[in-house]
Amino acid sequence: MEYFLTTSDKATPDVIEYARQLAETVGLEFLPRNRRSLKELRTYTTAGFFVLDQQRLLTYYGDPPFRFHPGMAHLRILALSRGERDRLIDLAKIEAGDVVLDCTAGLCGDAAVFSHVVGAFGEVIALESSFPVYLVTLTGLANYPFADSTDRQAFQRIKLYHQDYQDYLRTAEPESVDIVYFDPMFERPVTASSGIEPLRQIADYDRLQPSDIKQALDIARKCVVVKATAESSLWTAWPPDQLAESKGSRVVYGLYRK
Ligand SMILES: C[S@@+](CC[C@H](N)C(=O)[O-])C[C@H]1O[C@@H](n2cnc3c(N)ncnc32)[C@H](O)[C@@H]1O
Repeated sequence: MEYFLTTSDKATPDVIEYARQLAETVGLEFLPRNRRSLKELRTYTTAGFFVLDQQRLLTYYGDPPFRFHPGMAHLRILALSRGERDRLIDLAKIEAGDVVLDCTAGLCGDAAVFSHVVGAFGEVIALESSFPVYLVTLTGLANYPFADSTDRQAFQRIKLYHQDYQDYLRTAEPESVDIVYFDPMFERPVTASSGIEPLRQIADYDRLQPSDIKQALDIARKCVVVKATAESSLWTAWPPDQLAESKGSRVVYGLYRK
């Protein structure tokens, strides 16, 4: 059996119905839980499986289990609301009303910060190629108990799609978005933080190519921003117009202007 979706043990009928509909919408088999243990469920598939809990949040049981969390987005949005600066927003010069394409959605932490800044008249399109990451994040955006309404609105305005950015870039109209952003997986984790470990197990590791940046520049009206480590070979293969480093951090942003 491939991926399947079930519910937690004590799910109420409305949650079971929600799970059934979600499974149908995304083309997964729905398996009634029927008091089966996680250990038994694991024997049904060599892939992983999804469990919807009473809060309508999904856990993906790969190894280790993967759940949605808003990460640093809450603190970044709070800081912006207080008038403080955000390094990425400043570099990309993202403004209210902009259309931002986030090619590597992950848990939509960066996308939520973009969404807060572009506001209700802007748009954030986020693409995720890993199906477990996509589905867990999609239900997280819809159902996570966000700390406040500003966070909730920012996350819920994001338009998240299960799509490979190469397919999107190939078919998008020229100058159809303002900013294109890439935050691909690093081969070596930057921190030993265990928070990112479940994502590392199920994420896709496509290496960004100069041709991707060229295509992204074609569809951008303003700029393309790439997050990578200081030692990334991309910086020599396709040098950016500006490299924004930060003291004591291996993470840098490369800005490609239109
Ligand atoms: C480092 S994470 C992004 C984290 C994100 N910026 C955030 O704030 O949560 C990179 C994500 O890009 C996804 N990814 C890798 N290659 C991709 C591709 N070709 N198209 C779409 N998503 C891709 C990975 O599966 C992973 O979830």
